[in-house]
Amino acid sequence: MAIIYINKKKYNFSHANNLLQTCLSLNIDIPYFCWHPELGSVGFCRLCAVKQYNNLNDSSGRIIMSCITPIVNNMIITTHDTEVNKFRKGIIELLMTNHPHDCPICEEGGNCHLQDMTVLTGHHNRRYTFDKRIHKNQYLGHFISHQMNRCIGCYRCVRYYKDYAGGTDFGVYGASNNIYFGRFEDGCLDSEHSGNLIEVCPTGVFTDKLSSKNYNRKWDLQHAPSICQHCSIGCNIIVGEKYGIVSKIENRYHSHINRYFLCDLGRFGYNYVNTKYRLKYPIQVFQNKCIILNQNDSIDIVSNILKNTNRIMGIGSIRSSLENNFALRKLVGKENFSSGMLDNEHKCVKLIIDILENSGLYIPTLYEVESYDLVLIIGEDITHTSPRLDLAIRQLNKIQQSKNYQQYNVPKWHNVAMLNISNKKTCIYIVHTHEIKLDNISAMSHYASIRDQEIFTTVLAHKIYGVSHSFKNLTADVMNDTEIIYKALLSCKKPLIISGTHSGSINLIHSSTNIAQGLQALKKDVGLILLTASSNSIGVGLISDFSMTDVMNKISSDQIDTLVILENDLYRYVLKKDMDCILKKIKNIIVLDHVLTPTARKSTIFFPTTNFSESSGTIVNYESRMQRFFSVFNPMVYDNTICILEAWFWLYKIYYKIHNINNIDITLDHVIQDYINHIIIFKSVLNVAPNEKYRILNQKIARLSHRASSRTAIFSELNIHEPKQKNDENTMFAFSMEGNQQPNQDMEYIPFVWSPGWNSLHAWNKYIFKNDHYNSGVHIFQRNNLNKKYDLIERYDVNARNDEWKIIPYYVLFGSEELSQYSDVISKNYSTAYVIIHNKYKKILGLALNQKIEFECLGQLFQLSIQFSSKIPLKQLGLPLGFPNIPHVLLGCVVKNIRGVI
Ligand code: SF4
Ligand code: SF4
Ligand code: FES
Repeated sequence: MAIIYINKKKYNFSHANNLLQTCLSLNIDIPYFCWHPELGSVGFCRLCAVKQYNNLNDSSGRIIMSCITPIVNNMIITTHDTEVNKFRKGIIELLMTNHPHDCPICEEGGNCHLQDMTVLTGHHNRRYTFDKRIHKNQYLGHFISHQMNRCIGCYRCVRYYKDYAGGTDFGVYGASNNIYFGRFEDGCLDSEHSGNLIEVCPTGVFTDKLSSKNYNRKWDLQHAPSICQHCSIGCNIIVGEKYGIVSKIENRYHSHINRYFLCDLGRFGYNYVNTKYRLKYPIQVFQNKCIILNQNDSIDIVSNILKNTNRIMGIGSIRSSLENNFALRKLVGKENFSSGMLDNEHKCVKLIIDILENSGLYIPTLYEVESYDLVLIIGEDITHTSPRLDLAIRQLNKIQQSKNYQQYNVPKWHNVAMLNISNKKTCIYIVHTHEIKLDNISAMSHYASIRDQEIFTTVLAHKIYGVSHSFKNLTADVMNDTEIIYKALLSCKKPLIISGTHSGSINLIHSSTNIAQGLQALKKDVGLILLTASSNSIGVGLISDFSMTDVMNKISSDQIDTLVILENDLYRYVLKKDMDCILKKIKNIIVLDHVLTPTARKSTIFFPTTNFSESSGTIVNYESRMQRFFSVFNPMVYDNTICILEAWFWLYKIYYKIHNINNIDITLDHVIQDYINHIIIFKSVLNVAPNEKYRILNQKIARLSHRASSRTAIFSELNIHEPKQKNDENTMFAFSMEGNQQPNQDMEYIPFVWSPGWNSLHAWNKYIFKNDHYNSGVHIFQRNNLNKKYDLIERYDVNARNDEWKIIPYYVLFGSEELSQYSDVISKNYSTAYVIIHNKYKKILGLALNQKIEFECLGQLFQLSIQFSSKIPLKQLGLPLGFPNIPHVLLGCVVKNIRGVI
């Protein structure tokens, strides 16, 4: 601890932070530009000047840059005096000489760090009267606009994109007063994390193109704290809405998960919620005609159907909340509720749950990932399936490259020094089917078919345990590469093992756990991350004992006549021809969904449900952390003729109707209480977030900022009154600017970030350092002393043939994930499926340039374009599982009759 004196007050502080960060956390305003809590300090912009005095007799002091100054004992600092104020004002004036005064038409306006800092320093007169420098803007892809004239040259963008995120297609060009930040030429930004430029840049150089289409000022948006629904990481987001249209997703700080950054899927993948192609009324299909029903009739019809059959199954959804899934389980009965996953995935998730609960292995948070000193990634392309983890791994690698920073007494926040002492040694080891993006920074990548990966990792596990194995005829590559990884694992202190369900291999999950447990036995401080396919795979896995394959088997043997399908497109899993046959056997196909999936098109009765922006609920991430997302608006406010309700609400209504239960309020808290009563494992869900009764100073928490004024009401030519919002009976938030709006240091779930004088997202820096409290969510499985041992796999099926072509999966950021496929910008620009095969087959199959490939699998003919790889093993055919018409059931299937087609 150090004693420091700031503005004549005495504080005790740790040495860990720089002076700027320390002052901000004490709620002392110091303007800054080039510093960023995650990017560190470079001392470049000179805006964060403060005055330091040698001792109490020193009356003149000297100006120092607070971002680059460490805290030392007995420091005496003034943050505001005439000289310092003048200095900072002068710096802003200099930085602003070329900045256009276009705030009224700049989309950053009202959410701009430059605006905030300009006001904070008191610069309001422009004395520079000459021509301004003018730049040409670039096309940077479908998501980000570029307005280079607004640049103030703080270098944050390039430091983020290149140094932090590892991007290679963005840089700084030019010199002196004519520097340019962008790509070498126009084109889509290549990084999966490019959207963070929007928040990293303190001005309006990079703005959100999706948001521009439905643009509103920050103060006119209604906000809610939410959780990204696109993968199992569970990043925290803020959703912004106006008039029923979601127009922005921003990062919401979570100290142990995403901290300051999201991936592009999380930031831009939401547009499906605004789709025009959505059913808004309950519908019954009768004699090939669609009949629109009202709420009561639809409930009556379905409850009558369900009352009169016991040949019923419910299919849950890994992309739907715990509340929705539980409501379906309650309706159909536990023994009739399926997880909605194919057998293989279901078993993988069940094994992961068992490991989370019983293995005693530590599951690190995303932030903790950065503290490991070696990572072994097995069968997962995390850049495309769990992208924020990719960013964390890159930081892990960088920190290891600057490992000796403590030896040199360099603080971690000193970005320039950290870069200078870095070496090129990396600590990432990868086992995968073919090349992935992280290969560029890996120490070693081993490529093998999934079966050979299983053998490889099992051999490695045996080595770690020091026991012999029975695998014969291992190739020199396998012997060599297992030895390299083995030695690296032995020489590190804190290894991290990452695997998951995306390879569809239960054995890979098993052997990853073996490796982790073997390392634990060697007293390594090991961490294990097992990723799943969707945002709530673990949650659904916890409440369901049956897979979708079980349901299909029952249907095939004519045991089922009624299916209730919750927010799940079965055609993503099974070939269309097969699913058509299966569904033909079902008399009543009752579908609840918010997107018009191929399955919804087959429904005999359809219930329109709310999506994540319109409803509240709980999902469980890969750590077993339960997190709550909150609705940002109620769709029926803007059009009271529609009938879109929460899935849990529909299902409870039907349940109560069947059981003649009346007069019960169905609220989120009611559903939560109900599943705690039935499933004890969820008992701590009550601690995830306050209930509806929570008040601050007797007020609900406002979703709108105090400046919400309707001054930009876009329908004012029709009606100057804003639509009256409904009361929110489910959460502690109000659909209103009425309510508590004060920045609250202790609230984990805040709808929008703001601090007096700080309107941009940089206001986070006024919150978090005061109290590292933003660690919302509750783990279902706490770290425990259980130490269930998972036996080493001793042999693999020796009869498995290696001479047949097999399908292996590959994933892409935009296109593989289901919900984002319904976003128009993503479906128009990204989803082209292709096959990956080894480039040797170019010659063997006589394939010409741009020729397509044709093959048969499971009795269906496929025709796709090709990409060649020099790493993918022979006889392996990579397919983008999850793309339309490329269902997950193909994984591992044998392929026949491969040929080129013109
Ligand atoms: S583009 Fe933005 S982040 Fe990059 S240097 Fe300019 S002002 Fe700074
Ligand atoms: S990493 Fe996953 S949870 Fe996080 S923003 Fe990206 S898609 Fe969303
Ligand atoms: S923030 Fe300190 S010099 Fe830029």
